[in-house]
Amino acid sequence: MTRLALTDTTLRDAHQSLLATRMRLEDMLPIAEKLDAVGFHSLEVWGGATFDACLRFLNEDPWERLRALRQAMPRARLQMLLRGQNLVGYRHYPDDVVREFVRRSADNGIGVFRIFDALNDPRNLEVSMAAAAAAGAHVQATVCYTTSPLHDVDHFVDLARQFAAMGAHSIAIKDMAGLITPYIAHELVSRLKAELGLPVQFHSHDTTGLASMAYLKAAEAGADVVDTAISSLSGSTSQPPAESIVAALQGTPRDAGLDLELLAEIADYFRKVRQKYAAFDVGHQLDGRMLIYQLPGGMLSNFRSQLAEQKALDRLPEVLEEVPRVRADLGYPPLVTPSSQLVGAQAVLNVLAGERYKLVSQETRAYLKGLYGKPPGPVDPEVRRKVIGDEAPVTVRPADLLEPGLPEARRQAAPHLEQEEDVLSVAMFPQVALKFLEERTAARTRVDQTLAAEVAGVYPA
Ligand code: CO
Repeated sequence: MTRLALTDTTLRDAHQSLLATRMRLEDMLPIAEKLDAVGFHSLEVWGGATFDACLRFLNEDPWERLRALRQAMPRARLQMLLRGQNLVGYRHYPDDVVREFVRRSADNGIGVFRIFDALNDPRNLEVSMAAAAAAGAHVQATVCYTTSPLHDVDHFVDLARQFAAMGAHSIAIKDMAGLITPYIAHELVSRLKAELGLPVQFHSHDTTGLASMAYLKAAEAGADVVDTAISSLSGSTSQPPAESIVAALQGTPRDAGLDLELLAEIADYFRKVRQKYAAFDVGHQLDGRMLIYQLPGGMLSNFRSQLAEQKALDRLPEVLEEVPRVRADLGYPPLVTPSSQLVGAQAVLNVLAGERYKLVSQETRAYLKGLYGKPPGPVDPEVRRKVIGDEAPVTVRPADLLEPGLPEARRQAAPHLEQEEDVLSVAMFPQVALKFLEERTAARTRVDQTLAAEVAGVYPA
C-alpha cells in the first residue's frame, strides 16, 4: 500500500461547517503559500455554499476569489463541491447553465470536481460529469452516505458501480452527518476498492466523534485519500484534524508524509482568523443525540432557530421524532442540501400544524412530483395522494423539463456585465447576483467620480 493522501477542506467545508461560510478571501490569501507547500492531494476551496455566501453576505465575487486562489497556490490541485444539476444552488438548473458553469469553473482554476446529488440519482450527475470530463478535469462522483432500511453497503456499491460506468475517475464517500461507523467504513471501502478498481476518497464530519476512527479503518481498507481540515478549524461539525491523521499513521505503510511543523504554523494562523468570525462560530459541540437522530450538524441548530421564531422551542423533541417519519414517507432521501432543508421544514410544518401534511411546502410538493429526481425508495402513496392528488409524478430526468437558462440570464446581467461569469451568477441566483452586480457598478462609478475629482484637482481650470 502507498501513503495516504490528504485533501484539505479548510477553505471550503471547514468554515462552511463552523463559521456559517463567512471566511473572506483576505483571510485566505496570507496563508495560501504555506497551504500550497504542504503537499496535499488537493485543496477544496470552492463550491458548496461558498458561492452563494460570497454574493449574499460578503459582497465578494466568487469568480474573483477562485482566480485569486489559483494564482496564490500555483502548485495545488484546486477542488470544488458541485451539487450535480443544482450546481452551487438549491434547485435544478437547465443543462446549458450546467455545462457553461462547469466549463468556466475549470477555466478559472478548478481541477477536481466532486459531484453529488442529494437523492443519489445518477441522472442528476450525468451532465456535470460529462462537462467536467470535457474540460479535462478530474471527475469525482459521490456516494452520499446515509442510514435507512434500504441503505446498506450493497446499495452504495451498486451506486458507485453506476458512477464508474458513467466515467467517474474516482469515487467519494460523503458522510455529511458523520454517521458512518469505523467498521462500515472499512467494509464499504474494501468493497469499492475490490470491485471497482477506482481511487476512493473518504469524506466525513466529526459531528458524532466517529470520523477519525472511520478514517483510520478506511485507510486500513485502502482508501486513497481522506478529507481533513487544519486543526484549528477541525472537529465538531467540521472534518477531523489533518495533524492527528498524519501523526496516527507516521511510521506505518500509510504514512501521509506531511510536515507537522508546517501544519502547526498554518493552524496558528487559522486560530487567529477564527477569532474574527466568533459571531458565527458554532463552537465545539459533540452531540451524542446525533447518533440517535442521525441528522447532519446544521439541522439541529436550524430547528432551534426556526422553532424559536415561532415561539415553539418546546416542540423540538416532537420535531426530532418527526424527521425520520418524513424521511420514510419520502423514500429515505439522504439528508444533504437541498433535501435536508426540505425534510426539516416539512417536519416542522407537520408538528406545528397539528396534522401531518396539512401544510405542505412548495419543495415537498415538487419533490413528490418527481422534480428532484428519483427517491432512493418508494414514496408513501397516501402522503403523495394527500399532497399532489392523482397527478402522476414525472419519471424523466428533471432537467429534461427545463428550457435553456443562459439567454434570459444574459439579458438580465447585460447592464452590469464585466465578465462572462456574471451571466452564470445571475442564472443561478437571479436576485442576489443582480443586487451584487448593481452594487459593483455603483461602486465603480463612485471610484470614477473620485478619480475625476482628483485629476481635476491636479489640473485646476
Ligand atoms: Co462535508
